[in-house]
Amino acid sequence: MHAYDAVIFDLDGTLTDSKPGILESTEYALNKIGFPVPDAAVLQKFLGPPLAESFMKYCGMDESQAALATEYYRETYNPGGWKNNAVYPRIRALLSELHGRGVFLAVATGKPLGNARKILEYFDLLPYFDAVSGPDLNDLHADKAALIRKVLPAGKRAVMVGDTAGDVLGARGAGVDSVAALYGYGDEGETRTAGPTHVVRNTDTLCALLCPDMPKPKGYFVTFEGVDGCGKSTQIAAMEQKLTQFGYTVRRTREPGGCPIAEEIRKIVLAKEDGGMCPETEALLFAAARAQHLKEVILPSVAQGKIVLCDRFVDSSLVYQGNARGLSREWVKEINRAALREGAPDATIYLRMSHTEALRRRLSVSDPDRIEQMGDSFQARTEAGYEELCRENPDRFVPVDAAQAPEKVAEDAFRALFARMKKEGVL
Ligand code: TYD
Repeated sequence: MHAYDAVIFDLDGTLTDSKPGILESTEYALNKIGFPVPDAAVLQKFLGPPLAESFMKYCGMDESQAALATEYYRETYNPGGWKNNAVYPRIRALLSELHGRGVFLAVATGKPLGNARKILEYFDLLPYFDAVSGPDLNDLHADKAALIRKVLPAGKRAVMVGDTAGDVLGARGAGVDSVAALYGYGDEGETRTAGPTHVVRNTDTLCALLCPDMPKPKGYFVTFEGVDGCGKSTQIAAMEQKLTQFGYTVRRTREPGGCPIAEEIRKIVLAKEDGGMCPETEALLFAAARAQHLKEVILPSVAQGKIVLCDRFVDSSLVYQGNARGLSREWVKEINRAALREGAPDATIYLRMSHTEALRRRLSVSDPDRIEQMGDSFQARTEAGYEELCRENPDRFVPVDAAQAPEKVAEDAFRALFARMKKEGVL
């Protein structure tokens, strides 16, 4: 059973790792106003308290200078700097679980309320909260205890979770228990001296404290497929970054390869010179590499609750060795049985692009490997093969128009995948 029926969270350094975006904009503001940038240990103290207060306390500014520096800060932070931020692992699942159990959830932050809401909304955390409090834009001296009292519900046993001494003292001022989140930005000594009720080192121990019987994280296996040149590498990298920022633990991998034995097989099967390899050998080598990769990397990572993003998987064999090389689909399935049953992907992002457009893009960037050297009709058969698989697996395939601008492709792919993961309780 959860010990508290109301939990109030600080935002920066507690729910999200907002350090990169905040420091980037702080340095910009200091340079523009002509004050020296303090060393890293001092800059770290800017994370959490209201900004103007830190400019005065750590840089020796007076009130009007601090107000101007805050304006400069907002010039880069407000347009997009705020997105340079990441939800801590397990936080989404914790909020979902507590919210589902009827626990009252709120945020009390030193960040201007509008910005705080914008960040919570962007990361899709806002729906879990019953209330959010933060200073208004012109308030340079927000008092944490007052911010906590603003969202404190009557008649509940509440706790405040925060990463700094200010949060702990604020909780005391508001008359509630506190959890010091040592994984954030607060100075450990100062935070402990403030006398928190509980101390946690990471979000796993935070989950154990607030939600003792919380289910283990669910893993998810996602493959990326498409014709040669459809932009898979760029898209997987973008997806990895976005999922990580949304608080997921990602394991990126590829086929053929992904582990030492399979990478050795990759060298043979993709060698540039054609050693007269017959299609059956080729198919068996891909399947052999896959068997190792599945057991050594994919299944254990999913079992650990990770989101596995794999560049190509068994669909590539069905399409390349089946449709394109002309081997029987049934036989290719047979030699890949494990990958089609216990190792079947939860979702396949299909980067849909015509083989002619893909060829045009490919020729402009790289030196083709043995399979990419196959002619136009081979590539046309791979395109047809993917379209066929997409029709046959409507529940698993997530088609995305890959001929759009890369940022738009990334956005469409992320939206579709995230919606699907949420629906399946992968948080
Ligand atoms: P890929 O790594 O996507 O190529 P690159 O990184 O050079 O863009 O894939 C290598 C090639 O291997 C590609 O042409 C598709 C082919 N392939 C198969 O024919 N069967 C398979 O099972 C797999 C995984 C890949």
